[in-house]
Amino acid sequence: MTVYQATASAPVNIACIKYWGKRDTKLILPTNSSLSVTLDQDHLRSTTTSRADPSFKHDRLWLNGKEEEIKEGGRLSTCIAELRRLRREVEKKEGTPKISEYPVHIASYNNFPTAAGLASSASGFAALVASLAALYELPATPSELSLIARQGSGSACRSLFGGFVAWEMGSKADGSDSFAVEVAPCSHWPNLHALICVVSDDKKGTSSTSGMQRTVETSTLLQHRIKVVVPERMRAISEAIKARDFPTFARLTMADSNSFHAVALDTEPPIFYMNDVSRAIIALIVEYNRASVATGGSIKAAYTFDAGPNAVIYAPEEYIKEIVQIIISYFPQAQPFNDVFGLFGGEQPKGAVPS
Ligand code: DP6
Repeated sequence: MTVYQATASAPVNIACIKYWGKRDTKLILPTNSSLSVTLDQDHLRSTTTSRADPSFKHDRLWLNGKEEEIKEGGRLSTCIAELRRLRREVEKKEGTPKISEYPVHIASYNNFPTAAGLASSASGFAALVASLAALYELPATPSELSLIARQGSGSACRSLFGGFVAWEMGSKADGSDSFAVEVAPCSHWPNLHALICVVSDDKKGTSSTSGMQRTVETSTLLQHRIKVVVPERMRAISEAIKARDFPTFARLTMADSNSFHAVALDTEPPIFYMNDVSRAIIALIVEYNRASVATGGSIKAAYTFDAGPNAVIYAPEEYIKEIVQIIISYFPQAQPFNDVFGLFGGEQPKGAVPS
């Protein structure tokens, strides 16, 4: 008997130019393009196994061992339905086994806290899409699969690639041109590292989905951000990445984190994702960079914060040790910093990969 099963894993990605706002909430089409770095070590990944079997009664999904409902018309069922549709096309053409007719069981594990502002939905949906695509042996490129992952969670489309990834917002109403593309593989800039500072691993207060919707409905500042600020930043940061120009990359990354948190604050009622520890980390990095520039050096680190208080610090490898020491000296209880995640440890570039 043939067993139809496949496993894939996908890492978290951290945006430097943030996605915040949808122009279509069902298709998950964004109000601006965004750009992220996919973490390439094993600390922050989702691993998903999918299995199709005629004895299964219906589609089921377990997240970290706990069954989750697959709501009809919801994001999970949309992704599964889209991948089934692609499988059916393959079956028609090649007369391959009709496993699209079998229900699927899907089990996914995150090796980090879910919904702590660490983008678990990004790696989760990317791994889910990659594992079903492997199960169905779909001849799809990562960009094509990103169209489906996007409908699970917007930021998930970027985790289909390793390295530096842009999500082009597109302009078509059906979303067919809103997908992820590689800007540069991670091997392009091997000494860029990321340090994840887990300020809190509590489940966050306002989810990205509802927070960004409220921002779209109430923030006037968002209009300036999406029309004027982001288009220019997308161009500039892509150039900085290509040129491995860390000071420019860092300036743009910090500016865009600030801009995103400013539009969150400009939302009615206001949304506060950062806390006092987050702000203290910003102050440390600002001072660290100021001291470097004042002594003839350049910017050595960049902070960025997503929809939660945790900090991600990008820095060239040679400064990581020093930065960790500074942070630990200000936050001596910093057990979280035992987990220092070096990015781009010289491994092969990888986004979502079947394993
Ligand atoms: C602040 O992708 O989680 O991390 O599309 O509603 O699932 P949904 O939102 P999600 O939003 C991520 C927002 C962000 C910025 C980013 O990753 O670009």
